[in-house]
Amino acid sequence: MEVVADEFASSQATNDQDYVVTPWQVKGNVDYDKLVEQFGTSRITDELLHKFKKITGEIHPYLKRKIFYSHRDLDWILNRYEAGEEFFLYTGRGPSENVHLGHLIPWIFTKYLQDKFGAELYFQFTDDEKFLLGTKPSIDSAKKSAYDNLLDLIALGFDPKKTFVFIDTEYMETMYPIAARIAKHITLSMEKSIFGFENSTNVGMIFFPTIEAATCFLPSVLKGKNIPCLIPAAIDQDPYWRGIAREVAPKLGFYKPAQIHCKFMPGLGQGGKMSASQPETAIFTTDSPNVVEKKVLSSFTGGRATVEEQRKLGAQADICPVYHYYYYLFEENDKELERIYNDCTSGTLLCGDCKAMLAERVKEYVIKHQEKREKAREIVDEFIVADVRGGLKKRSTISRG
Ligand code: TYM
Repeated sequence: MEVVADEFASSQATNDQDYVVTPWQVKGNVDYDKLVEQFGTSRITDELLHKFKKITGEIHPYLKRKIFYSHRDLDWILNRYEAGEEFFLYTGRGPSENVHLGHLIPWIFTKYLQDKFGAELYFQFTDDEKFLLGTKPSIDSAKKSAYDNLLDLIALGFDPKKTFVFIDTEYMETMYPIAARIAKHITLSMEKSIFGFENSTNVGMIFFPTIEAATCFLPSVLKGKNIPCLIPAAIDQDPYWRGIAREVAPKLGFYKPAQIHCKFMPGLGQGGKMSASQPETAIFTTDSPNVVEKKVLSSFTGGRATVEEQRKLGAQADICPVYHYYYYLFEENDKELERIYNDCTSGTLLCGDCKAMLAERVKEYVIKHQEKREKAREIVDEFIVADVRGGLKKRSTISRG
């Protein structure tokens, strides 16, 4: 399972102060090994990968490359699946103007899991979270973004029959009773220690984690039987599961939700994750080909000061976002990826050529994605559940009169 190393961020972290990972902020060069210890998660072992292979017949590149690298109870959920028990997938999005390529990483993997395991997906848009955080000026503008971001999700090819999407403020009649049951077991001091909330934190934010946690139990409530839940997401969302959902599950008689965590796709700057708050170093799915090209060509690289030096010493792929774009999304073939790595580090491949090749691939990807995104507009109602009692009726099945 040898793939060219991806210790981009972790290799640069020198101490605990170098990075911050919370559900609302990821800063600095994340030490992913330390994070596993800090959060108390488990690394995905070779044994677990073999279990995956036994079930799916292959090991997805994200697993092989350790982009998805950490978990909670993944072994448990795979064991239950092997014993004939189905599970559902749960993931989501805090809606904002732009979806970037980093957001697509957990969703692409979720779609793969849906296909391989035939699992239903529950997808939550937390318009309330964005409003309460202050990233969005109003619930309406957050909701509008949710409808726009949904196009990106649909464009990835999820099965409408097995995918249930909701926007928090439109689905509260169903969600609130579950969130209230959770909230009864969560104290302010627990939340202060999990999320670092302070006395000045607004009470909406203090209640909100119970709503993100509620989806872990939603299908069990709606279907009247316990159903295991698997959450694919980047590791920043873990505090919701560790501190809230997994904490209260046994008290409410539900299974603890399982998780599979990914690392962050980097931005095009020097270090740090791809983030909408740094638009010049993020590729948005709605960027025009020209903008994509400009951003990629202006990327930071692991190159040397002069061509001569680079020919002599080679470039530093491990700290280069351009290399990592191939690693995450733009070179599926391991042998080809290894060739890019070797050509880079040996000085055969120069950064200008490498960036130009990447720019072509990213442009092509974004153009195709945008076409699928446009087509998605026609089938939005096949994904969104309406907040009627019973909870899972799709809008497309409800007549409008
Ligand atoms: P949000 O909108 O911040 O992020 C959406 C998803 O993208 C992941 N992510 C990334 N993954 C890889 N590389 C990156 N650079 C990168 N940046 C973000 C996030 O981990 C997330 O999976 N509160 C949530 C919305 C939510 C949710 C959930 C997410 C509600 N329920 C269940 C995951 C699972 C949020 O604001 O995500």
